[in-house]
Amino acid sequence: MSVRLQVVETPEDAARAAAEELVEAARAGGHIALSGGSTPKRAYELAAELQPDWSAATVWWGDERCVAPDDARSNYRLAREALLDRLTGTPAIRRVEVERGCEEAADLYDSWLQGETLDLALLGLGADGHTASLFPESPALGELGRRVVAGLPGLPPYVDRVTLTIAALRDASRIVYLVTGSEKADVAARAFAGPPDPQTPASLVRSDRGETIAILDRAAAASL
Ligand code: 6PG
Repeated sequence: MSVRLQVVETPEDAARAAAEELVEAARAGGHIALSGGSTPKRAYELAAELQPDWSAATVWWGDERCVAPDDARSNYRLAREALLDRLTGTPAIRRVEVERGCEEAADLYDSWLQGETLDLALLGLGADGHTASLFPESPALGELGRRVVAGLPGLPPYVDRVTLTIAALRDASRIVYLVTGSEKADVAARAFAGPPDPQTPASLVRSDRGETIAILDRAAAASL
């Protein structure tokens, strides 16, 4: 399955394009999986400005770090500060409850996701080719039976993770990668224009139901 590339000039343009994706899904009352890392912060802020009423939507996370929800490394905290706290109409929130412990949180999230279809999964791309918390060589890559697993990261921050599996992400109706910066150019080429390769987990994550797009700024698209 191929990826449609949407190349824009600047990181701000990329954030706006991702925000528009989020807003469209929120207005439609979609089930939306958010990503962590630093790249989506601006997209979340813009999405809250463009559409402050998310009351029809349900928000999930593609992955979470096993830290307290108010820890600076928490993906939930990032989304809360940049998006959720800025909304006038709050969505249903399906947070990964990592304070239960990573394994139990993964089991619970797996049970919540059974029978659900994500309308939109927003994903990032790590320098080593990971997406969500699906790292190169991770046993999570081979997981077929579950939609959510606990695992270890291959890059900092070195805290345990809970992640949706490839199967769960492929089941999303729309997958949107948001990637910016020249330091991501080579890995973006491997992820979006190379063959499927477990060394670059993002190359394995494509929507089986609908479209997969990659929003890149000019710098991140330089090797594509
Ligand atoms: C996480 C993520 C992860 C992230 C990439 C890119 O919890 O770390 O969800 O998959 O999207 O590592 O992160 P940056 O945007 O910080 O480069």
